[in-house]
Amino acid sequence: MTFSTDVHYARRLDEQDELAAFRERFVVDDPELVYLDGNSLGRLPKQSLDRARDVVARQWGQGLIRSWNEHWLDLPRRVGAKIARLIGAADDEVTLADSTSVNLFKLTGAALRVPRTRGRTKIVTDDLNFPTDLYILRSAAELAGADCSVHVVASPDGMTVPFAALAEAIDSTTALVALSHTAFKSAYVYDMPAVTNLAHEAGALVLWDLSHSVGAMPVSLSSAAVDLAVGCTYKYLNGGPGAPALLYVRRDLQESIRNPIAGWFGHHDQLAFHADYQPAAGIRRMLTGTPPILSLALIEPGVDLVLEAGVERLRAKSVHQTEYLIGLWECLLAPLGFALGSPREPERRGSHVALCHPEGLRIARALVDQMHVIPDFRAPDTLRFGLCPLYTTYAELHRAVSALHDVTRDGRYRCYPGRRRGVT
Ligand SMILES: Cc1ncc(COP(=O)(O)O)c(C=O)c1O
Repeated sequence: MTFSTDVHYARRLDEQDELAAFRERFVVDDPELVYLDGNSLGRLPKQSLDRARDVVARQWGQGLIRSWNEHWLDLPRRVGAKIARLIGAADDEVTLADSTSVNLFKLTGAALRVPRTRGRTKIVTDDLNFPTDLYILRSAAELAGADCSVHVVASPDGMTVPFAALAEAIDSTTALVALSHTAFKSAYVYDMPAVTNLAHEAGALVLWDLSHSVGAMPVSLSSAAVDLAVGCTYKYLNGGPGAPALLYVRRDLQESIRNPIAGWFGHHDQLAFHADYQPAAGIRRMLTGTPPILSLALIEPGVDLVLEAGVERLRAKSVHQTEYLIGLWECLLAPLGFALGSPREPERRGSHVALCHPEGLRIARALVDQMHVIPDFRAPDTLRFGLCPLYTTYAELHRAVSALHDVTRDGRYRCYPGRRRGVT
């Protein structure tokens, strides 16, 4: 089939989509709503409704404190082991804990204290990284001591970072290279094995933020010999608002790593209530306090759906859908002043597409208020369309682009003020 901007083409692609049935496994409350905000909050799996009822009514309501032993103490590791299969890690290398921000702080603090990085004072990151990552890296560097600093490699085009620029920044003073594998705004995807290797050659550790990759594309931490990783579970894993985050430490590093927020859940004999801290063996030492069980328990249904669909098949659909969206942009939106804010090469692009327009904020508001289309907006000018291959349809993408085209061409967005209002 040759590409066409006609809606019938989109419908034919949906008919041929071998993953189409997965959409029925999610709550689609309003079939007319085009929901493309998966990067901030994925949809609700139907199975999570039953799980929520079970955890609240049976496990909490009836089981009370007994449910810690029966269901909850092991939950971070048990679901972590399932996520490990999605990111090419071993079962005992991944756990769930806290938020991505907090896990990043813990792993950065830990990385600066392992014998291998002693005497090294530089953390290398880039300006495509998510703001919380930059704040946390700086904060951890500040706590580590006066001579520790964060070097932020600048992207020349706001979209990508050349390998050579990273290579220039990483040197024998570098303790840690901390980057987002998929950039939150442009969707640029780093070559993980190449960058990891670059850091290792300089003697530095590597920490990847997998928030926009996990569940959307295959990742292989083991084959790239990645040291540390974190990532959100509420995006392509559909774990729900505020769901705890993943935390990965390569097995051979686990015994040398110290949690800078050492708490009782990471104690080797937690329930003996010793006054002195002794870290648990393995990844469990990276836990701190009581996890939010209600939220934690709801991560598993989304992870199970990703495992069932298969991450290779999800990636194939995601690439095809982002290509389709870019094809529509080229024909219908580029002439109206939209610029593509994501890489053209599919292998360097994640599962969202950024479209930039000077009136992006007002256009995004018109889409939500008038056209029943939810993208998200990232200042100053980026509309981000998150494609979740488990449930996004080609017809939805067609509708989103038609809506963008119409509100921009006839100037319907002009009735909105150009000020941000809450979550966009
Ligand atoms: C790449 C990346 N890292 C970190 C975060 C922050 O995660 P949290 O608020 O769960 O700590 C986000 C949030 O969207 C993100 O996109």
